[in-house]
Amino acid sequence: MNNIMKPTACKILEVIKESIHEYTFKVAVDMKIEHGQFLQLSIPKIGEAPISVSNFGDGWMDFTIRSVGKVTDEIFRKEAGDTLFLRGAYGKGWPVEQFKDKHMVIITGGTGLAPVKSILNLFYDQPDYVKSVTLIAGFKNEDSIIFKGDLDRWKEKFTTYYTLDKDQKEGWNTGFVTEFVSKVDFEKFGDDYEVVLVGPPPMMKFTGLEAVKCGVPDEKIWVSFERKMSCAVGKCGHCRIDEVYVCLDGPVFNYTQAKYLVD
Ligand SMILES: Cc1cc2nc3c(=O)[nH]c(=O)nc-3n(C[C@H](O)[C@H](O)[C@H](O)COP(=O)(O)OP(=O)(O)OC[C@H]3O[C@@H](n4cnc5c(N)ncnc54)[C@H](O)[C@@H]3O)c2cc1C
Ligand code: FES
Repeated sequence: MNNIMKPTACKILEVIKESIHEYTFKVAVDMKIEHGQFLQLSIPKIGEAPISVSNFGDGWMDFTIRSVGKVTDEIFRKEAGDTLFLRGAYGKGWPVEQFKDKHMVIITGGTGLAPVKSILNLFYDQPDYVKSVTLIAGFKNEDSIIFKGDLDRWKEKFTTYYTLDKDQKEGWNTGFVTEFVSKVDFEKFGDDYEVVLVGPPPMMKFTGLEAVKCGVPDEKIWVSFERKMSCAVGKCGHCRIDEVYVCLDGPVFNYTQAKYLVD
């Protein structure tokens, strides 16, 4: 993909139905990608949507998509063997070098788990990469749980708090993710930790505030933002918040900057 604005036709290898509203599309694509970056997925005559890469390997990428409107609904009609158009990859991803040898606390709400799945797999596959992983993952209800097999697998190596907002489920907690932040013994980690937050804007806002209340300094918190985008290359201004272009300067931001961007 030499022209970064030109979409390339890519074959869908597999469609994994994670939940009623969230599917993962495994697409044949060969390019270098950083954890946490996104691509513009498009369907001719319909439109484009920025989607994070939820996992990747040699010659393939996964996109975990929630159907919410024009483009995403149309993508949901696609099957293995069909074509998707992609351009990218764009944006600044997770600072994985900075995460090396740290205790990682990762807090997600709903599909917010998608943009962190590849780093969770990195930490799972290379246990010496970080000192420990605590994963707090929340979902609205049982029907909205994604990556069920991965959630089970991650339990083997990570400290996990899986929770449904209001419903009861065996082996799961009930309550918002914010309620589990104070269960993490941040003091035990000394200075040696980083916190990652991804989810809907209210979840990120209140979880950020809760982490700070638990003594986490702003500079140890990282978030990924979803804003409406068009060009994805800093030209159209659709994603601009004050002087910040989410497509270029993000979508991953340190909380020192992000706390002024949270809606
Ligand atoms: C960097 C980035 C990464 C993203 N990663 C993912 C991902 O991994 N999986 C995923 O399912 N979605 C992701 N999104 C959101 C996704 O891009 C939107 O849901 C999609 O563009 C909606 O397009 P549509 O044509 O289907 O919906 P539309 O018909 O355009 O809109 C449907 C509804 O969604 C709202 N909406 C549209 N775009 C956005 C947006 N960017 N943020 C918030 N609300 C929006 C509209 O206001 C409207 O209410 C990401 C967005 C960004 C910016
Ligand atoms: S999407 Fe066009 S400037 Fe960011």
